[in-house]
Amino acid sequence: MKITKICCIGAGYVGGPTMAVIAQKCPTLQVTVVDMNADRIAAWNDTDVANIPIYEPGLDVIIAEARGRNLFFSTEVEKAIDEAQIIFISVNTPTKTYGKGKGMAADLKYIELCARQIARVAKDNKIVVEKSTLPVRTAEAIKSILDHTGNGVQFQILSNPEFLAEGTAVQDLLHPDRILIGGDSSEEGQKAIQALVDVYANWVPANKILTTNVWSSELSKLTANAFLAQRISSINAMSELCEKTGADVKEVAKAIGMDSRIGAKFLKASVGFGGSCFQKDILNLVYIAKSYGLNEVADYWEQVIIMNDHQKRRFSNSIVQTLYNTVAGKKITFLGWAFKKDTNDTRESAAIYVADHLLNEQAKIAVFDPKVSAKKVLADLDYLETRTCEENIAGVTSYDDPYLACRDSHAIAVLTEWDEFVAYDWQKIYDSMQKPAFVFDGRNVLNASKMKTIGFVYHAIGS
Ligand code: NAI
Repeated sequence: MKITKICCIGAGYVGGPTMAVIAQKCPTLQVTVVDMNADRIAAWNDTDVANIPIYEPGLDVIIAEARGRNLFFSTEVEKAIDEAQIIFISVNTPTKTYGKGKGMAADLKYIELCARQIARVAKDNKIVVEKSTLPVRTAEAIKSILDHTGNGVQFQILSNPEFLAEGTAVQDLLHPDRILIGGDSSEEGQKAIQALVDVYANWVPANKILTTNVWSSELSKLTANAFLAQRISSINAMSELCEKTGADVKEVAKAIGMDSRIGAKFLKASVGFGGSCFQKDILNLVYIAKSYGLNEVADYWEQVIIMNDHQKRRFSNSIVQTLYNTVAGKKITFLGWAFKKDTNDTRESAAIYVADHLLNEQAKIAVFDPKVSAKKVLADLDYLETRTCEENIAGVTSYDDPYLACRDSHAIAVLTEWDEFVAYDWQKIYDSMQKPAFVFDGRNVLNASKMKTIGFVYHAIGS
């Protein structure tokens, strides 16, 4: 099968950047990204690349180069499926909010819809690639749907999970640690694997392209996220112990990170991890383990989530306690709302939960984030359904100017590690705040001694 056209269903944080890089690196391939969300597609097609729906450093430049040349964004899902030889499925796979597996299992309804749509539309053989993160053995379900179309079309299902990290998506895509492709051991399966390998081989060195069976590939993605999240929960657990014992978690992290068996990355204590993936993927792993009766395995991984929830709660409790056990009516400024720096993604951001706790204590929350809109902040809180939309509006105000956001505040909480926060005029901020002026650095990014010299009562995580 000669590959000339590929399509991707789902123009989100994965589908958009991934296909943009494929289009840039494979100018002879026509790449079409489709989504049923017309607003999102319109934003991807906005003539001003500053308005694309996803903020990722460097993405605008790639979009400007490839869009309209061999990269297209469209709502015409069926047309794109019909024309493409390779179809990536990159739709969302959130945690189920209803029925069996509620709160744990991955909700595969969007995946199934895609499979049924492909089955209905396809008139010639297709390679279907799972790009979304999926429970192990999902390919079986997709294959069963595709194989019952009765129109004689042959499908090959590949698993090709995405390992990019938001905030560094473009660099991660351009220089991946590895590309993982899982497929069937049959001759047809191997041919399909090779077709996808050939796409990546346009810019990824051969020794970084790993091929496995489908189940190993599916499970590797869940395993990678579980290990990454586990490191954060492990160092966060130590941060609490550091606070009690006089140890400093930054020193501990450095000391253990120099052990080459442990490594220095992903050892930063914080208010807790967020993002759309870690929690949902671990919950999914726990659910899968339980469904096989592997209760010890399930309990082991569930602890990573329990620790993360504890860390968020501990942070908000510490704010209330330090502010003389009451924050009612007090302005508390959040610097950062996104779940990490260099992204406008707020899904599962620690800020949402810390704000929720503090609103329950009747605090007045002021928010400044360089990339997150006021509308999004309120939508995130409304989604929790803890209180009415009107109550959220009354309790939370977003600002376009960080200095205004901090004015008259009793306390500042740093929730995202945006670089610009470090460079602020902290003396000016101090002068405009209520006294004593508290700073709770949930990301350990500010210079502790500088903050204390200015006069702040400065609280870091883990020291
Ligand atoms: P997203 O929510 O940003 O994008 C998914 C898009 O799919 C949405 O725009 C939605 O409208 C569209 N969609 C859903 N069903 C559709 C259908 N039937 N037809 C057409 N469009 C449809 O999600 P995101 O973050 O891109 O994640 C996608 C998958 O990639 C998930 O499984 C996630 O776990 C995985 N992943 C995410 C990473 C991340 O950093 N966000 C990293 C690696 C994997």
